[in-house]
Amino acid sequence: MNAVDYDVIVIGAGAAGMMCAAQAGQRGRKVLLIDHAAKIGERIRISGGGRCNFTNRSISADNFLSHNPHFARSALARYSQFDFIKLVERYGIAYHEKTLGQLFCDDSAQQIIAMLKSECDAGGVAWAQPCAVSSVAPIAEHGLRYQLATDQGEFRCQSLVVASGGLAIPKLGATPFGYKLAEQFSVPIIAPKPALVPLALDPATLAPLLALSGASLNVATRCDGQPGEFKEAMLITHRGLSGPAILQISSYWQMQAYGDAKKQPISIDLLVGVDAADWLAPHRHSKATLPNLLAERLPKRFAQAWCELHGWLKPLAEHAQKDLQAMSLALNNWSLSPSGTLGYAKAEVTLGGVDTRALSSKTMEVSATPGLYFIGEVVDITGWLGGYNFQWAWSSGWVAGQAA
Ligand code: FDA
Repeated sequence: MNAVDYDVIVIGAGAAGMMCAAQAGQRGRKVLLIDHAAKIGERIRISGGGRCNFTNRSISADNFLSHNPHFARSALARYSQFDFIKLVERYGIAYHEKTLGQLFCDDSAQQIIAMLKSECDAGGVAWAQPCAVSSVAPIAEHGLRYQLATDQGEFRCQSLVVASGGLAIPKLGATPFGYKLAEQFSVPIIAPKPALVPLALDPATLAPLLALSGASLNVATRCDGQPGEFKEAMLITHRGLSGPAILQISSYWQMQAYGDAKKQPISIDLLVGVDAADWLAPHRHSKATLPNLLAERLPKRFAQAWCELHGWLKPLAEHAQKDLQAMSLALNNWSLSPSGTLGYAKAEVTLGGVDTRALSSKTMEVSATPGLYFIGEVVDITGWLGGYNFQWAWSSGWVAGQAA
């Protein structure tokens, strides 16, 4: 059977792939979009609790982790959050800001999928889905550079865009396809790891917290390598810690461990905006206990369990001055060494991926391999929680769509 020829083939019909295919198609390129899954856009559908936190009002390269921190700047500037918001408004999709600039659909994430499909239709994009790609071979025939063998036949193209995403939530069809293809074409990879992921605690730390499973408190989290802190909610779970403040810091914690088996601790401020030493000072000689005092500011059960963990149950007057110093330090700077993460099954994204130093930041094309592009989460750009990862998918997809 003869191969069918396209100008552009995009592998992966997720957020980045659909944006890229639509743009390339609307430029007049003949585009094929391939996905192996029975349903497209599954990550969009389940995102933001079914309402898709599709972008953030305030975005800069500082909201992303990468081994090449400035790389994201160009694409984010060329196709910004405001461009995507305009697109959403053009489709009449109602949205609202939930918190910290995070924009969600009022109704359903399905509206974003439908919008992207319409954009692909406007670009005359052809679909092969579900379709499994078994091999990609470099060729040089009449300007065509890549030949794909699939279970729907052979396809050839000038430009091949890899938008197959990361490894988070394997049951949604995540595969290492992009990393393997990168290796095949000698494009370096930064070892992928789960990120925006709950953290596990060792049994000794977890034991006194277990009864609190489900409790939530507002904290600030910090970790070496992170500029600033994340002031958000933390959730105690039966395996460790979760909630936005923990998911955010987990990415930096994972980043710190690169090439170094010994992981850094994370630090949790339990009294955000309060200097614990100043707060404790008036109670120095009192009969009050720390659990009772803390219960004024933190959930009572948590205050009790946390003080048990540290052995601070006596009246404050019976504690030595050095204990009070240790209390103040631990309240503003509770240092914990997580034993690990809950892995890809519970992660929202993948840290690491295709090394951006091999890519053009303007187009996402591999500098040494003309016509080969990597976009979206498969690339070593990982956003904070809060709409940043989708914006990276839209921005990187859009710039590749202008060039491929
Ligand atoms: P994406 O994963 O979207 O798409 C990849 C596509 O490639 C999939 O359709 C897959 O089937 C296909 N594919 C994979 N392997 C293939 C192969 N071998 N052959 C063919 N096709 C293949 N972000 C955010 O900004 N706001 C949010 O609210 C959320 N919420 C959220 C919730 C949950 C539960 C998760 C897991 C993730 C989020 N995210 C998020 C992250 C966001 O979903 C993610 O960063 C983007 O979807 C990445 O877009 P991509 O297009 O790169 O990959």
